[in-house]
Amino acid sequence: MKKLFLLTLTAAFGLAFVLFTSVSGNNGKDKAAVTFTKHIAPIFQKRCEECHRTGGMAPMSLVKYEEARPWARAIKEKTIKREMPPFHAIGAVGRYHNDPRLTDEEIATISRWVDSGAPRGDVKDLPAPRIWKTAWKNGEPDLLIKVQKPYLIKPSQKDQYVFFVFDYVFPEDTWIRSVDTHPGNLKAVHHANTHLIPPNFKVPEDGYIAGDFDPGARGTIMIAGWAPGVDGVMLPEGTAVRIPKGMRLGIQIHYAPAEQERVDQTQIGLYFADGIVKKNLRVLFGDRKDVAIPPGEENYSLTAKQTFNTDAVIRFFHVHMHLRGKSYVMRFTYPDGRVEDVLTVPRYDFNWQRVYMLSEPMRVPKGTSVEFIGTYDNSAKNRFNPDPTKEVHWGEKTTDEMMQGRIFYESADENLNLAVKKGHTVSAPTAGKQP
Ligand code: HEC
Repeated sequence: MKKLFLLTLTAAFGLAFVLFTSVSGNNGKDKAAVTFTKHIAPIFQKRCEECHRTGGMAPMSLVKYEEARPWARAIKEKTIKREMPPFHAIGAVGRYHNDPRLTDEEIATISRWVDSGAPRGDVKDLPAPRIWKTAWKNGEPDLLIKVQKPYLIKPSQKDQYVFFVFDYVFPEDTWIRSVDTHPGNLKAVHHANTHLIPPNFKVPEDGYIAGDFDPGARGTIMIAGWAPGVDGVMLPEGTAVRIPKGMRLGIQIHYAPAEQERVDQTQIGLYFADGIVKKNLRVLFGDRKDVAIPPGEENYSLTAKQTFNTDAVIRFFHVHMHLRGKSYVMRFTYPDGRVEDVLTVPRYDFNWQRVYMLSEPMRVPKGTSVEFIGTYDNSAKNRFNPDPTKEVHWGEKTTDEMMQGRIFYESADENLNLAVKKGHTVSAPTAGKQP
């Protein structure tokens, strides 16, 4: 028995050897060994270290060879399946700004590295280490606001949600170009959404409301989303968002489960418009509140419809569903009848709220109609489903559902021509029409 086994083994090796030599015989130079130091470290620096480093939000660091080596198999699998780096839309790599996806070639390189035993390579080949700054990417913000006091996150097996209301009240109408979020504790903050809070919102005494609810259902408007690896959007020169006088900001933070106590004090930085503001960023909003997803239903779709009433220049997209959210499509029908799926999120994941910012803005004509199509999985197959036996309705808890899609755009014809200094208007609009 043993002998036979040995024989087959040598036979198999012999065959592999023959195959291998014949391949390398043809193409010896190109097929040089893939090593960590030369080929893999640069990919990890570019696409993984953001989260997979000491102090990052991922469970392990992939910076050093010794740290990455034990994960080789899992790395191959997760990259082949495109589960890592996390990104949930499809379309050509590069269509989206800050698109973290690997190219097919990078995935193949990682697989070859793993298949050849994940060798280290020559230390001299290592690229210079990437320095991860905690500083603000767009420089010091014009206005920095932070949660009143450090928040103690209690140990919990479950996700926790806290909505913090900031003290700052906008003293006058303010034009902003960007909202950037700096979580105080990267290991704890899973995602964080900044909301505009109208003056009639009842501000809690302690500055926060703990519990699982969607602030949008209480009249706030989400203006920025942060998830690991997602940078704040900086609007192009001349485009801004107006925050009306008397408003405040709030941030809802989703804390990941952990066994130990943690502390977080998240900050947000605002960047004001300065110079001439020509366009106010607009939103085309698809929403359904008449949600009733039958129990056990795997593929339940809801559609909302809207039409662009102006020639539009689209900058970015956002979709929002809760735990049963499965996939999402934004389908455009142009005035000439052509149909195009402009955003496709085949594997929606509530844990990765992100904004899909186009690398190149997209122009669409007035009259283009949009179907916002959200699909849900209320069956037991959905591993996030808290209760597949329940009919699910619209509601503010993550165990209820929502169906929202937003397209952020500018009107191609708008020219406000407002002189703005540090966010505040210094001249009245000149009729608001085209010059
Ligand atoms: C935006 C943050 C982020 C980026 C970028 C990222 N990861 Fe991850 N990764 C995570 C988080 C968070 C987890 C743990 C939770 C999960 O699996 O979703 C994880 C889990 C993993 C796992 C599974 C670990 C296990 O327990 O089985 C592997 C393997 C992995 N990542 C590899 C990579 C590789 C390789 C890259 C780059 C090509 C990468 N990741 C990029 C955040 C990230």
